[in-house]
Amino acid sequence: MQTTITLNNGIKIPQVGLGVFRATTEEAENAAKWALEAGYRHIDTAKAYGNESGVGKAVAESGLHRSDIFITTKLWNEDVRAHRTKEALENSLKELQTEYIDLYLIHWPADGFQDAWKEMEELYHDGKIKAIGVSNFHPHHLQDLAKISTVKPAIDQLESHPYMNNQKVIDYCKENGIQPEVWSPLGGKGAAPLADPKISEIAQKYQKTPAQIIIRWHIQRGVVVLPKSIHQDRITSNFDVFDFTLSDEDMQAINALDRNQRVGSDPDNFDF
Ligand code: A2P
Repeated sequence: MQTTITLNNGIKIPQVGLGVFRATTEEAENAAKWALEAGYRHIDTAKAYGNESGVGKAVAESGLHRSDIFITTKLWNEDVRAHRTKEALENSLKELQTEYIDLYLIHWPADGFQDAWKEMEELYHDGKIKAIGVSNFHPHHLQDLAKISTVKPAIDQLESHPYMNNQKVIDYCKENGIQPEVWSPLGGKGAAPLADPKISEIAQKYQKTPAQIIIRWHIQRGVVVLPKSIHQDRITSNFDVFDFTLSDEDMQAINALDRNQRVGSDPDNFDF
């Protein structure tokens, strides 16, 4: 049985969602379709991924009620810098064939994010977005946001996997009532942690795949986790993670694999 987490505004988010970064529109459509068939009810896309319309098509054709599916998309940096929040949201709504977004995130702390946040607060109050949040924000960005916000971010979506668990930022978010959510949970392109000997050893012990072990580790550390795949077998098996529990010892062993090895940009040093 899949788990949900209640955000700081009372909205419930399914704890495992499908990620579709680096998928074409057609790949994202198929991936979302297979995910919904496998029981996922949460899909995470972004304007910058260029595949919102594929996700929208899969949702529209799924036969499920829109209210049973949680959709996240993100405001891209150029729209933040150009003060185009409302136009960007309207465009995402159209691409996704929906009247509202469950969760809208500022994708990176680009210059102008505070102004964008004020506009997102208005859209949130209008009901076009059920929850608003940020992505790739360090604590100092969250502190800058807190100076001007009247709505607290519901989510901070961050890079996190066994080789860069980002635990300090995750702890900061939790202490401040912001739900951490993680991208590249398996280690991103190439997914190096899947071949880690310690992960393989734990996988054998539980008779699960390395990916299932890592996804389960994220679930038990209390983050929302967004494994990406465009392959049906992987999408299905990545969701088969609700029938076992890792011991404290195994959780600690995975925590100990951290080597501060980012696969994406540092939020303090990005140039896109
Ligand atoms: P693919 O889409 O070809 O399946 P992330 O850490 O960003 O979620 O990325 C995981 C990467 O690992 C993706 O590139 C994905 O590629 C691949 N992947 C996803 N699930 C599995 C799995 N169960 N086993 C092996 N590789 C996986």
